[in-house]
Amino acid sequence: MTRADISIVDAKLCDLESCAAIACDSEIGRRYHFDMETLAGSMRRALESGAIIVAAREALGPGSAVGSGSGAILGFAWIDPRGAFGSAPYLKLIAVDGKERSGGVGAALLAEFERRAPPKARMLALLVSDFNDKAIVFYERHGFAKAGALPDFAVDGVTEILMVKRRAP
Ligand SMILES: CC(C)(COP(=O)(O)OP(=O)(O)OC[C@H]1O[C@@H](n2cnc3c(N)ncnc32)[C@H](O)[C@@H]1OP(=O)(O)O)[C@@H](O)C(=O)NCCC(=O)NCCS
Repeated sequence: MTRADISIVDAKLCDLESCAAIACDSEIGRRYHFDMETLAGSMRRALESGAIIVAAREALGPGSAVGSGSGAILGFAWIDPRGAFGSAPYLKLIAVDGKERSGGVGAALLAEFERRAPPKARMLALLVSDFNDKAIVFYERHGFAKAGALPDFAVDGVTEILMVKRRAP
């Protein structure tokens, strides 16, 4: 189920600090010592070189149209359109504000990742850290399956799990 009062919109440059702050204030942000300014800068450079960053925005209160997407940023997804092996759409990072989880915001962002994939893309791909059980279950519920393991890929002692979703023909 998806919150009715959110819109998924293309993130603007001025949104990136809010997105980065959400990622920093998450389990993976703490575990990997994300720095807000560094991450926002990486996202800005990625946007400028063809990445897609979508934000889930809350509609403002009474008087604003539901779905106008003009309120606070609740979460975001950073998509590299050919980031997996220079071929498949790759979900580089997804994060939802800790107070807004379990309301379908993540599902809406993941659905947008699928929608943005070119029709010819056969697979969608992402990496998830082995300790991130909740995210692994979340992805499995949305049709992703484990396809490989990369021990010590990002940091020593943590295995990154490759998960893929085959698109319907
Ligand atoms: C992984 C993540 C993006 C999921 O976002 P989310 O907004 O919580 O995702 P959803 O709400 O769509 O789904 C999560 C749960 O809410 C439940 N849910 C969804 N809509 C719901 C609704 N309207 N009412 C109640 N529950 C709902 C889902 O069934 C799911 O249940 P589960 O927690 O038992 O699996 C989020 O946990 C997050 O930001 N984690 C930190 C960053 C991170 O680890 N990112 C992944 C990097 S690989």
